[in-house]
Amino acid sequence: MTLRSQIVGVGSYLPARIVTNQELEKSVDTTDAWIVERSGIRQRYIAAEGETTSDLAYEAAKEALANAGLTGADLDLIIVGTATPDHTFPATAARVQARLGMTKGFAFDLQAVCSGFIYALATADNFIKSGQVKTALVIGAETFSRILDWQDRGTCVLFGDGAGAVVLKAGEGQGTSADRGILSSHLHSDGRHYDLLYVDGGPSSTKTTGCVRMKGNEVFRHAVVNMAEVVGEALAANGLQASDIDWVVPHQANIRILEGTARKLGLPKERMVVTVDRHANTSAASIPLALAEAVKDGRIKQGQLLLLEAMGGGFTWGSCLVRF
Ligand code: UT7
Repeated sequence: MTLRSQIVGVGSYLPARIVTNQELEKSVDTTDAWIVERSGIRQRYIAAEGETTSDLAYEAAKEALANAGLTGADLDLIIVGTATPDHTFPATAARVQARLGMTKGFAFDLQAVCSGFIYALATADNFIKSGQVKTALVIGAETFSRILDWQDRGTCVLFGDGAGAVVLKAGEGQGTSADRGILSSHLHSDGRHYDLLYVDGGPSSTKTTGCVRMKGNEVFRHAVVNMAEVVGEALAANGLQASDIDWVVPHQANIRILEGTARKLGLPKERMVVTVDRHANTSAASIPLALAEAVKDGRIKQGQLLLLEAMGGGFTWGSCLVRF
């Protein structure tokens, strides 16, 4: 028997306020046509004044727990993937833990920017596979609107706020790709590219929060290559072909990156879950938001093979192959 981390619940939350490209045209030198053509983004959700990352995370977590038929008291572990915590410390996960009424186990944040959900899922999977944890809640939650320079048209049009969550439960499998659960995870980072996508503030460097700075076209070039590579790596590790994948649930940064990855793999783009047009780039939240959407609308069904993949600042990138 092989221990497998099975996804038994999904949830998501988006703030109420939608900001369209047309609205941004009024405050920054950009056009709806440019944003749609270069990124595929048409609108984004922005958290209300006073609405924090832990608020978004809590709402997504509540829905994922209800979907799993569990409560906070059933959890052994919470990991929140976020680059926009409520405070420098303690972890945003600690706030979510308290609000969910979870008093045993442990909760912590994980920082891998846009790859945060993949890193968090892989970490929780390893806690489950080692036998240390039986039930885990993995959340991706961000309020990127708080770290945007709203005068920098190269970044402010690209990001949005939101949260998504999954509940993992230890189950048993045969050790084959037919097992339900996380079949493999592959994580990578290359710190030589730190300066291509970063926030120009932080407690130990400037004592300020700072804003996102990005050399977009250089990040783009790396993203297309890295995304195709991690997909190939995941398939090879499991002895599978691209045609075995039912759904790719990618990090949502740019429609051109998603379509480029699909082309490289020879996968029809209809098998990618796309939310970037409506959510924009929500960093660590984008994959669980997309996953929850496709599960809720019935596209993703139990037993299907899902490939989750992301790339973000650091650089960090990685994948999780999941039999849902
Ligand atoms: O989530 C983590 C990973 N992040 C990503 O994967 C983001 C990757 N990068 C991208 O998605 C794209 O590079 C962007 C959407 C950010 C930009 O698209 P691009 O085709 O790479 O454009 P560019 O940065 O090369 O800029 C082209 C032109 C420039 O003007 P000049 O120098 O050619 O005159 C920019 O100044 O577009 C200009 N530009 C804009 N114009 C109107 C940049 N931002 C805007 C804007 N509106 N918002």
